[in-house]
Amino acid sequence: MKAWMPTLLLLAVGSALAAPITMEDQSQLTVPPAQAPAQFAPPAEGELPDNAFGKLVREGHALFVDTRRLMPDAVGNGMNCSNCHLDQGRMAHSAPMWGAYPMYPAYRKKNDKVNTYADRIQGCFQFSMNGKPPAADSPQMTALSAYAYWLSTKAPTGVELAGRGYPDVPQPQGGYDFKRGQQVYREQCAICHGDKGEGQKVAGEYVMPPLWGKDSYNWGAGMHRINTAASFIKHNMPLGKSGSLSDQQAWDVAAWINRHERPQDPRLVEGSVEKTRLKFHANDGVNLYGQKVEGVVIGQGTGG
Ligand code: HEC
Ligand code: HEC
Repeated sequence: MKAWMPTLLLLAVGSALAAPITMEDQSQLTVPPAQAPAQFAPPAEGELPDNAFGKLVREGHALFVDTRRLMPDAVGNGMNCSNCHLDQGRMAHSAPMWGAYPMYPAYRKKNDKVNTYADRIQGCFQFSMNGKPPAADSPQMTALSAYAYWLSTKAPTGVELAGRGYPDVPQPQGGYDFKRGQQVYREQCAICHGDKGEGQKVAGEYVMPPLWGKDSYNWGAGMHRINTAASFIKHNMPLGKSGSLSDQQAWDVAAWINRHERPQDPRLVEGSVEKTRLKFHANDGVNLYGQKVEGVVIGQGTGG
């Protein structure tokens, strides 16, 4: 297993060179098309001052990349923030923190209110991390916000930067296909994420994050939408070869991943998947929650 690490480092460097194309997360995030590659560059780690502010930012960075281990009370699965916001929240087209921080407060359809930056992070804690968000004024939230603030150094406030979010990948004409998705998964993803989407652990900690099952994002997370997962995947996976999948392959494999069970949507309405589907999933992009696939209703949730 240890042999992975250097390889991964190289792969990660390779993926930073990719220059994906469009924008517009049709979900909550509305971002304009970016024709050009992202131009904003967050500050280098070496530029961090050696004072109280620098210390707070370093704490925020640690929480961002090592979330599960450092915040066991707030995280209910096996994830870290940096599993979905790649290169420690720096990578363009991987919902970088510098694309996000200067854009809040902002209205979000998902909870129908104006969200502060802290609200937005709390959303990822509740759904993507399947956990209990820390209070907005907690030391951890302050540190995570300070890290994002610092990454956004010299970014304009309230201006969409190219590179924000996960660029939208439009649904192919013929939709998506589970069988083809399974094939892509076996050939290009299973080697890292496991045959059953279970990820890989070394000494009890994930070195490859799970894609479904009890330690994955829950049914309320943005990634459960096939369109959002396809966008993430097309621009960020396979790790080190981002942009190599066709739109069709990205949609097919996203559908395959999101047809598997994962922790229940914490907003579950009266214990009913159907009521929850109607209230929260009927107009939430393309998703399988509460739908029948091969005779089985998807969205029952995993136990534990
Ligand atoms: C399972 C993947 C996943 C994990 C883990 C995750 N996020 Fe996210 N995050 C997303 C997705 C997907 C979006 C896009 C929002 C949407 O479309 O709903 C997002 C959006 C965001 C945004 C807003 C981006 C913008 O441009 O407005 C912030 C800020 C954010 N996440 C922070 C975090 C933090 C901090 C953590 C760790 C506590 C975290 N995320 C963990 C998937 C994840
Ligand atoms: C070389 C190993 C590798 C390959 C191959 C790979 N991934 Fe990943 N993937 C990772 C790693 C590592 C992360 C987390 C990134 C980080 O923490 O910096 C990740 C993150 C993800 C995530 C978001 C985090 C989560 O667990 O939900 C998804 C979704 C994903 N990969 C899907 C795919 C798909 C689909 C494929 C195949 C097309 C694929 N990956 C191929 C290593 C890989």
